Amino acid sequence: MNQTVTGLSRLGTMILDNLTTAVLLFDRELRLRYINAAGENLLAVSAKSVLGQNAGALVPCPADEVENRLRESLTTRQPFTEREVEVKRPDQQVIRVNCTVLPLNPIEMPYDLLMELQQVDRQLRIAREEYLISQHQATQALLRGLAHEIKNPLGGLRGAAQLLERELPNPGLREYTRIIIDEADRLQALLNRMLGPNQLLQLEPVNIHHVVEHVRGLIAAEFPMGPEVARDYDPSIPRICGDSDRLIQALLNIARNAAHAAGQNGRVTLRTRVLRQFTIGSVRHRLVLCIDIEDDGPGIPVELMDQIFFPMVSGRSGGTGLGLAIAQELVNQHHGLIECESRPGCTVFFVYLPLELPHD
Ligand SMILES: Nc1ncnc2c1ncn2[C@@H]1O[C@H](COP(=O)(O)OP(=O)(O)OP(=O)(O)O)[C@@H](O)[C@H]1O
Ligand SMILES: [Mg+2]
Repeated sequence: MNQTVTGLSRLGTMILDNLTTAVLLFDRELRLRYINAAGENLLAVSAKSVLGQNAGALVPCPADEVENRLRESLTTRQPFTEREVEVKRPDQQVIRVNCTVLPLNPIEMPYDLLMELQQVDRQLRIAREEYLISQHQATQALLRGLAHEIKNPLGGLRGAAQLLERELPNPGLREYTRIIIDEADRLQALLNRMLGPNQLLQLEPVNIHHVVEHVRGLIAAEFPMGPEVARDYDPSIPRICGDSDRLIQALLNIARNAAHAAGQNGRVTLRTRVLRQFTIGSVRHRLVLCIDIEDDGPGIPVELMDQIFFPMVSGRSGGTGLGLAIAQELVNQHHGLIECESRPGCTVFFVYLPLELPHD
């Protein structure tokens, strides 16, 4: 962020922009004069669009009440903390924050009040994500072990059926050996899908919009009668270091579900944006790419919601229940995470990918 902050040293600005706590500075008219990167992130706004706005418009809870408390604090020079304040962001998401306000002693600076906002559900989100990642790793390990155990005897069974087929005196009996061989092949293909690719990631600089557009094309070809697939891209996103084939596969699995859910007359939206100072699991990243895949379908059944990333969980007849488990695995390989929010009429899958990998 390139906000120039009157009266602040470069070190001060750098520290403020790398804090995970949202910091806002207001003047005596309660107009916003500064917001750090964590603040932009928390309130889902850009500094450019909110500088100069009134405190009540930014943290409406209800608006006049905040402004009254801030004015009181300016007059009495007393700090205060308001717990569990609900803030509705421009993207309509409601977050809960603890809000601490401290009157400053400005000397030739236009900053009269310092406001700190700390998201209360943030700790909960981090704990939930860590749980999701460890659960995913545990099931993945179990599946891999099981799949390997099945693969070897399965190869033996198939080979034996082939030998038997050649020796059978009556060709009419071959129908039975065919069934063994075909079913063994089907199981083999399922196990291969479960095990996922066993080659190393082919990391290269990837333009995420090429990946998303590719997925859009595949969905349009697979669902020619609709839904409509809309896009909302942030063109300024830098290239990420990733394996484009695997990213395509991951997004395709999610987008395909969204297209099924939305149906012919529905709408799927593909959105890209960048988040600053964002944690994935317990790791904080300076820049994170977020790809949203949204649909206006009926939503994920409540009883499935906690399990959709587990393998073999499906609410669709004909579904193998592997799509999301594979997508989560492929995104985890990029140190990212997929999360989901769903209500009838609006289901969003958020694919978080760090813009710099740890070994960069
Ligand atoms: N956008 C969505 N809207 C509603 N339900 C969804 C959505 N995405 C996933 N689901 C639910 O989650 C389940 C699991 O999805 P997943 O992609 O893992 O498996 P699947 O689609 O059933 O099978 P496949 O292996 O063919 O993808 C789905 O069966 C569906 O019930
Ligand atoms: Mg699927």
